[in-house]
Amino acid sequence: MDNKIKLHDKFFKPFISYAEMEEAIDRLADRVNADFRDSDDVPIFLCVLNGAIMFTAAMMKRLNFKAELVSIKLSSYQGTASTGTVLIPIGLTAPVEGRRVIIFEDIVDTGNTIVALKEMLLSKGAREVRICTMLLKPDVYKKDERLDYVGKEIPNAFIVGYGLDYDELGRNLPDIYVLDEPKDKHMKYYILFGPPGAGKGTQATAMVEKYNLHHISTGALLRKEIAAGTELGLKAKSLIEAGSLVPDEVVEGMIESEFKTVTGVDGFLLDGFPRTIAQAEALDAILERNGEKVTSIVSIMIPDGMIIERISKRAAIEGRADDADVSVIKNRIDTYHNQTEPLIDYYKKAGTYNEIDGVGTIEEVRDRIFGLVDKF
Ligand code: AP5
Ligand code: MG
Repeated sequence: MDNKIKLHDKFFKPFISYAEMEEAIDRLADRVNADFRDSDDVPIFLCVLNGAIMFTAAMMKRLNFKAELVSIKLSSYQGTASTGTVLIPIGLTAPVEGRRVIIFEDIVDTGNTIVALKEMLLSKGAREVRICTMLLKPDVYKKDERLDYVGKEIPNAFIVGYGLDYDELGRNLPDIYVLDEPKDKHMKYYILFGPPGAGKGTQATAMVEKYNLHHISTGALLRKEIAAGTELGLKAKSLIEAGSLVPDEVVEGMIESEFKTVTGVDGFLLDGFPRTIAQAEALDAILERNGEKVTSIVSIMIPDGMIIERISKRAAIEGRADDADVSVIKNRIDTYHNQTEPLIDYYKKAGTYNEIDGVGTIEEVRDRIFGLVDKF
């Protein structure tokens, strides 16, 4: 891949190579082919112009069942920030009534556009609508709608290439590039602190979007390793399911690798890390090596009784193994009091500790957090 490039007023640096993207698209096309192999209807491939042109072409070369190509143009972006509104300057180029539709989209972030498009197609009589996106930003995706096919997950960064643009430039680059932030700019490092079930994960979603942060939940990263059946996952499984902590070095390594690989954001939101004094010291050391420091702790506090109530409710929705048994939840609470709570004093001494009341509706707690973080 080439080195840095300039589009309009901004610099971009290499992010995902063409070869890596093609491999991801190979795997994606295999899944779509498998799902549509035996169908006797002729589905519609719906290309969302202009961003998905390259992706649609790449998929069409690989998909081997009968289909028709239709296009639509929507616009929800101006410059580098999502406007959140969906405009439809050019309508559908063919009717969709009674048809199965596979939408080809270049990138899904908040999901506002794609979900509105799916609803519009269904309201126009489409029999079934599936969403196939080349890229997904899971940190900012906030819809319940299931995405049927995802090529690659990326952090919340601004990218160009492989069809994606910055004010219409960059679409023809085969490789994908990410916005290169000026080197003298310091990153923000927020720690979302609190007992199990305090609402860290819930509030993280709103925070990453508002402050352009990358969300790192060590718990979620560990659950991904478990689901993938990796060696690390196998080691972590029994500890997590007992409500104990995994070894410090494991999570420290995960954090450092995220700091190194994620770009194009204004900072990081650490959720569930650090959880021991040793982890807090390791974090300070990692940041110091890079001339950075912890910006602020946002500590969400709720009483122990409410923890069990909230987590028991979530158990039925998310099916997390460590939520299933009240004795495990109680052990997580004990682990929190014994090993994690001492961090409050650690960060009070550092002058970075801030506490907010976690009791109230999700929106009330969110507004308290925004009121605090707006000051930094
Ligand atoms: P982790 O995944 O971090 O779990 P946790 O700390 O126990 O926290 P939870 O994810 O359960 O709660 P949350 O605060 O995110 O609450 P949520 O927003 O979901 O860690 C899991 C395990 O991994 C650990 O036990 C450990 O083994 C291991 N691990 C992770 N990090 C580690 C580390 N650094 N070192 C060593 N080991 C590590 O909210 C909970 C529920 O309440 C949801 O259903 C939500 O919808 C609801 N809710 C949220 N806010 C409200 C509100 N205001 N009102 C009503 N309901 C609400
Ligand atoms: Mg969580």
